[in-house]
Amino acid sequence: MNVLILGANGFIGSHLSENILANTNWHVYGLDLAQDKLNNCVGHERFHLTIGDMIKEKKWVREHIEKCDVILPLVAVATPAMYVQEPLRVFELDFEANLEVVRLCAELGKYLIFPSTSEVYGMCPDGEFNEETSNLVTGPINKERWIYSTSKQLMDRVIYAYGKHKGLKYALFRPFNWYGPRLDNVFNPKPGGSRVLSQFIGNILRGENINLVNGGAQKRCMTYIQDGINAIMRIIENKDDKATNRIFNVGNPDENISVRELAEMLVQQISTNYPKYSDKAKAVKLIDIDGKTYFGEGYQDVSLRVPAIRHANQQLGWKPAVGIEEGLKKTLDFYLS
Ligand code: UGA
Repeated sequence: MNVLILGANGFIGSHLSENILANTNWHVYGLDLAQDKLNNCVGHERFHLTIGDMIKEKKWVREHIEKCDVILPLVAVATPAMYVQEPLRVFELDFEANLEVVRLCAELGKYLIFPSTSEVYGMCPDGEFNEETSNLVTGPINKERWIYSTSKQLMDRVIYAYGKHKGLKYALFRPFNWYGPRLDNVFNPKPGGSRVLSQFIGNILRGENINLVNGGAQKRCMTYIQDGINAIMRIIENKDDKATNRIFNVGNPDENISVRELAEMLVQQISTNYPKYSDKAKAVKLIDIDGKTYFGEGYQDVSLRVPAIRHANQQLGWKPAVGIEEGLKKTLDFYLS
C-alpha cells in the first residue's frame, strides 16, 4: 500500500511516518517544507520525501494522489495565537489549500483521512463530546480564535457531503490535545508561539515564569501521541470498512486535567527528575494572566473538552493506554535528556 502524507515533517506526520515504516510494509510518500523531524525516516527504502510547499507543488500533489491508496493531508496551522494574529492565513491553508486535496480525492476515488479537531466542538456545554450528537458552538465573529474551529468544521461538512452525495470514501479523526516529543519547538520564545505543553517547557528552560491564562482552571484531555498514532493506524488499515465515512474523537478522557495542574506537574517532574534543570524549575512562578492580554482581543477559551470515545472503541477496537505521568516523562526525556 502507498500512503501519501502531506505535512510529513509535522508533529503528527513525523510520528505516523515512523510508525508506518516500523510496523508495516507500506510505502510512505511525503511532502513538506523541511525534514528536521524525520531523522528516523530519511534514508529508509520505503520512505519517499519531497521537499516543497503543497500550495505550489500542485502537479506533484495530483500525481501522488493518483499514485497512492490513502491520502492524509496534515498541513495546517494549529496554534491558537496564530488564529488570532493571522486568521486569513489559517483559512487559506487549513481550508482553501486542503479543499483542493479533498476534491482530488473525490475525483480520483481515493481514501481520504482528514484531521478534524477537538476545536470544532468549541464551547459546547456537553460533559463529553459526541461525534454524532454534540452541537458545535463558537463565539462571535470578532473573536477570531474561532476561524480555525469553523474552517475545520466547514471542511468536515464538505467532506461529509462529498461522501454522501459523490461517493467519497473518507474518515475524519479529531485529536484532543495530543502531545509528545516533537510537538513544537520549545525554543520559540514567542508567548503563545506554541501549544501549551511546549510553551511551558520552554518557559522553564528559559528561566521565565509560566503564564496561566485566565487562572488556568480550564481543562484539557491530554493525549499521548503514540495513542493518537495507534488510532490513525487502525483508520488506515480500515479492517472490514469499520472506519469508512466515520468521524472519530481521538483523546484520553481519563487525563482531563486543568492547565494549572499541568504546569504544577511539569514543574514537579522537572525538579525531581532532571537535575540539570531542577533549579530553574524550582524558581518558576505560576502567574495569572488575562486571556486578552496574553493572546489579544480576538481570544476566547474552552473551559471543558472531554471526548466520548465509544465510536473509536467500538469501530476500531481503540482506547488510549498512556497516562499523563508516563507521557510527560517520555516528552521531557526527549526535550531535556
Ligand atoms: C488546541 C489547538 O487549537 C490545536 O493544537 C488543536 O487543534 C486542539 O486544541 C487540540 O489539540 O485538541 P488549545 O487546547 O486551546 O487548542 O491550545 P493550547 O495552546 O494547547 O492551550 C491550552 C490551554 O492552555 C488554553 O486554555 C490556553 O489559554 C492555555 N495556555 C496556553 C496558558 O494558560 N498559558 C500558555 O502560555 C499557553
